[in-house]
Amino acid sequence: MTSLLRAAAAAAAVLIAACQANPSPPPSEAGASKAAPVLASEDAKDIHSYARPLEARVTHVALDLAVDFAAKSIGGTATLDIERKPDAKEIVLDSRGLRIAAVADQAGKPLQWKMGANDANLGEPVTISLGPDTRKLAIRYQSAAEGGALQWLTPQQTAGKRHPYLFSQGQSIDNRSWIPTQDSPGVRQSWEATIRVPAPLTAVMSAAAVGEPDTDGANRVFKFRMANPVASYLIAIAVGDLQFRSLGARSGVWTEPSMLDAAARELADTEKMIDAAEKLYGPYRWGRYDMIVLPPSFPFGGMENPMMTFLTPTFLAGDKSLVSLIAHELAHSWSGNLATNATWADFWLNEGMTTYAERRIVEELYGPKVAAQQVALGIDAQNKAVTEAGGPAAPDSRLHIDLAGRHPDDGLTDIAYEKGAAFLRMVEAAVGRERFDAYMRSWFDRHAFQPVTSALFLADLRKNLVKGDEALEARLKLDEWVYRPGIPDNAVAADLKAFAAVDAAVAAFSGGGAPDAAQWNAWNTDERLRLLNKLPRKLPAARMAELDRAFSLSTAGNMEVRFAWLELAVASRFDPAVPALEQFLTTQGRRKFVRPLLTALAEDAGWGRPIAARVYPTARPLYHPMVTRELDELKLGAAPGS
Ligand code: BES
Ligand code: ZN
Repeated sequence: MTSLLRAAAAAAAVLIAACQANPSPPPSEAGASKAAPVLASEDAKDIHSYARPLEARVTHVALDLAVDFAAKSIGGTATLDIERKPDAKEIVLDSRGLRIAAVADQAGKPLQWKMGANDANLGEPVTISLGPDTRKLAIRYQSAAEGGALQWLTPQQTAGKRHPYLFSQGQSIDNRSWIPTQDSPGVRQSWEATIRVPAPLTAVMSAAAVGEPDTDGANRVFKFRMANPVASYLIAIAVGDLQFRSLGARSGVWTEPSMLDAAARELADTEKMIDAAEKLYGPYRWGRYDMIVLPPSFPFGGMENPMMTFLTPTFLAGDKSLVSLIAHELAHSWSGNLATNATWADFWLNEGMTTYAERRIVEELYGPKVAAQQVALGIDAQNKAVTEAGGPAAPDSRLHIDLAGRHPDDGLTDIAYEKGAAFLRMVEAAVGRERFDAYMRSWFDRHAFQPVTSALFLADLRKNLVKGDEALEARLKLDEWVYRPGIPDNAVAADLKAFAAVDAAVAAFSGGGAPDAAQWNAWNTDERLRLLNKLPRKLPAARMAELDRAFSLSTAGNMEVRFAWLELAVASRFDPAVPALEQFLTTQGRRKFVRPLLTALAEDAGWGRPIAARVYPTARPLYHPMVTRELDELKLGAAPGS
């Protein structure tokens, strides 16, 4: 193509995009892949992938897939562009239960391949023999029946009750169950997809929509393109009876029709959040920021899939009181999606930085008091996580964690989130906000679309922030924060004033006083959560009943409040809350809510375990495989084979 023709084509593409109801930005750079190099340092070696990307790696993934609800399977072709050392004889991909029919090269010539033995955590390696000039791999396959990233919902499990629903949750290592690629966060690829779904359903993915959907017989065909190189765990899909509502110039929300109004109302501050995040960390580099509010079985509060954050419906409180979740997922557009942990040992780089940034965005929108309260709740969560890790000397209270022989989700604790955030708050306090903000912004500029490690971050901090200032270096205790257990003594203390009124109310109630409904009604959600979390854990039934009556806790419309109440109810063996508990456990499947409750019940042989054993078989079909994988270990008797 001549450059003139190319310019005309690009202009036409922009025009076409501008005409769509839900315009997607033109790809930032068309043409050849610009996948980031894989880091070669020892600390960037990923023990949770079979791939050997320094020998042969994937740089682009093109999916051509059909969604089959009857078979609960996605199938079709994945065509991978690869880069390889000239003498590489094979390439290794990750899989989990994939059924591969054939592998061919760019000319359609069949390639030898073999599937290795299954490992419970990692799945199976797929080793493909390379010819001297193999550049592309076309893999014909079907996704695993169950147990991976995909959750297939019956119509009954959706809000509308009329259509089935499918969504994926790839982080950390489950995308290998439906995409045959190198499933390591240190290996980035651009990607595109053509997705066939039964009419009248709609597919969305974590990428720009290309054109309007086509119709092909009984199917609708959707096309997507992610021009930026991303980690494989960030490829995501949802299919259902979905509608879109714009929230502003570059954001909008998808959800089932009956939830659209509530979702749009709750998310009204999104554009302001994007502006606040850009002010802190530089331009938002992904074009649009859309969100999808999923059915209640979505296992997380949110998931930062690029251009399409996935959200639980349990954050819909009616009063925007839980939208720090959006600040969090949005902040991942920098920490996590631009600069990505190269391995799950450095998960804190994703989540700790994001938790820090989340509160900065909250401060910008809702003021310093609200932000200080969320920081204080975070410090409590951090300290609880240290205890749960085994105390301040326990190896799992380190930021850079050793996951050898374990699943990466073992590192999914508030050590990564809250100790990570506390580390950055300490650095901010030591150098001043202005200097630290400028540094963080420059960090994202230097590492945009790159994998990063703890060692790389510390070296970058030293080079660009500490700059040889020995007194500062000594004050920061950088290595202690990242590589040693516990919380170093230079952590910034919580602002005691943040919850002064609440803590006084806790003391009054603990001393025998009556609950004060007027005060409760005047409080915000964080204040209510603080009260519930600070109350003595084993309260007599009469005192629990007083609380429930005064604050209507068993029917609280705010799911975080209801969860905090039910946790207290389980700890206090409060029988009257059991119906509310059963209802809560059988109507949503958010890991953060169901795991602690079912675990606490299961551990209480005398009271809770029979309740858990009764509820779990009913609840289990609603839960995502990544949640049942953990909960089945409680041996409550509902899992196949238990
Ligand atoms: N990326 C995480 C979710 C995740 C982490 C999924 C690890 C799988 C493995 C997401 O950004 C997150 O942190 N979600 C939180 C939100 C919260 C801290 C505001 C959640 O779901 O609770
Ligand atoms: Zn996160």
